[in-house]
Amino acid sequence: MAEGYMIKRPIEELVRSRISVRNYKNADIEQEVFIKLNRFIGEVLKKYNSNIRIELINMESIKRDKDVKLGTYGVIRGTSHFIAAAVKKKDMNLVDLGLIIEHIVLYATELGLGTCYLAGTFKRSEFSKALELAEDEVLPMIISIGYPKDGLDFIGSFFKLAAGSKKRKPWSELFFNETFERALTEAEAGDFANALEMVRLAPSASNRQPWRIVKEGRKFYFYISRNAVYSKALGFDTQMIDMGIAMSHFQLALEEKGMKGQWCKDNEDLDVSINNITYLISWIND
Ligand SMILES: Cc1cc2nc3c(=O)[nH]c(=O)nc-3n(C[C@H](O)[C@H](O)[C@H](O)COP(=O)(O)O)c2cc1C
Repeated sequence: MAEGYMIKRPIEELVRSRISVRNYKNADIEQEVFIKLNRFIGEVLKKYNSNIRIELINMESIKRDKDVKLGTYGVIRGTSHFIAAAVKKKDMNLVDLGLIIEHIVLYATELGLGTCYLAGTFKRSEFSKALELAEDEVLPMIISIGYPKDGLDFIGSFFKLAAGSKKRKPWSELFFNETFERALTEAEAGDFANALEMVRLAPSASNRQPWRIVKEGRKFYFYISRNAVYSKALGFDTQMIDMGIAMSHFQLALEEKGMKGQWCKDNEDLDVSINNITYLISWIND
């Protein structure tokens, strides 16, 4: 990526400090911050050669001093700024969307912005209009952005805010050693332990953390443990976005350490003994 529009802070610091921010300061986002964010969006889309359309939109119709009831859960207050993503219906790839957009969320965190993914029943028609959604496009989710009400200072308040708010499943429920029968310990994960910890801390719809990973040497098989009811309720498979988010944390944490690898599909028949767990993709480390 072009110099100047890269994530510069350590991934771990960004992952640990990001939390869903639903209360904003009712302040405009500075022009300079907008420009940086916009350039970064362009760079990430180029890096992944993606035709997803990601735009920053200011919903003038939203009164920032009122609660915006955006969905079945969660209320956003104090911002009218959003990141919205339009995806082509025919090649709707929610995994790619999650992978790409989480880079942007982490960069926004670096810029001191708070964010919150919103895939619930937000006013899709208004956002679709603002985004000039084409016939063949859909809008699976938006992300609110703005300065967090409870403190702007990155290191101080953000970290304090984050402390205790990350309720996540333990390693033993998420990561496995060669087979689902054996939990993977941090010691066994070795050089990969940090990247897996970054996956564990990732945000997910309703905090369901659908990712399950089996390590086999330098290969990591990513599986999705679906919650069927939730997927159906929204009309979009939001848990696929969650998977993309987890992949971005894993990849960024490894890349930062100079560890290279690639995503590929190669393990469709790996024996799965637990119900409702489906293979998605593998990371093969060089
Ligand atoms: C794909 C996706 C969709 C989400 N949709 C909503 C939503 O509609 N409303 C909301 O308040 N939060 C939503 N969230 C935020 C999650 O509830 C939140 O990430 C999770 O509870 C973990 O908390 P944290 O982000 O503070 O770490 C969503 C998150 C993701 C990843």
